[in-house]
Amino acid sequence: MTMALRVVVLISGRGSNLVALHRSARPQTYEIVGVISSRADAAGLAYARTQGLTTQVIEAGRYAQRAAYEAVLADTIDTYAPDMIALAGFMRILTDGFVERYAGRLINIHPSLLPAFPGLDTHRRALEAGVSEHGATVHYVTPIVDGGPIIDQMRLTVDPHETAEQLAARVLTLEHELYPAALTRLAETHRRTRL
Ligand code: GRF
Repeated sequence: MTMALRVVVLISGRGSNLVALHRSARPQTYEIVGVISSRADAAGLAYARTQGLTTQVIEAGRYAQRAAYEAVLADTIDTYAPDMIALAGFMRILTDGFVERYAGRLINIHPSLLPAFPGLDTHRRALEAGVSEHGATVHYVTPIVDGGPIIDQMRLTVDPHETAEQLAARVLTLEHELYPAALTRLAETHRRTRL
């Protein structure tokens, strides 16, 4: 019997990548076993609830120390016994200790062709830099922010006349294809290594 990869998704907001991941989940590839949000008002949380996904809210603001917050986050993640933790618009910088605890199991989607444009505001910066190509990257998370090994990328041609908002919308469409495809492939690799 094949078992789905157990995935916990961490979100903070809109959750459109969560929706894409959830729609592509299959019993023979991966299953979203939990959704953790750093914000109680995240739109993605509402979606997860309507889909009957198990959800938790862990608000960083409630913890005086980052270490205390991350300890609760890690303990919560571990209750799901996940094979993979997928960051999807999770707006917290995680400490080295946290990242190392989940080495090889923590992945992220970033809206640029890394290593170009790590950090925020990628679409405006790409337009200002005059690049001809832009896109999205799924990568392993390491202590270097947006600097971990690349799993997969999708690219598009930049129209120099488009706005940052238009470019963001086009990249987001790519993200919704890229993230589920990358996770599906990871699930297949994972299954092969377990045989
Ligand atoms: C996406 O652009 C993702 O690449 C970035 O944050 C955004 C999250 O969007 N890390 P959503 O919450 O998945 O709609």
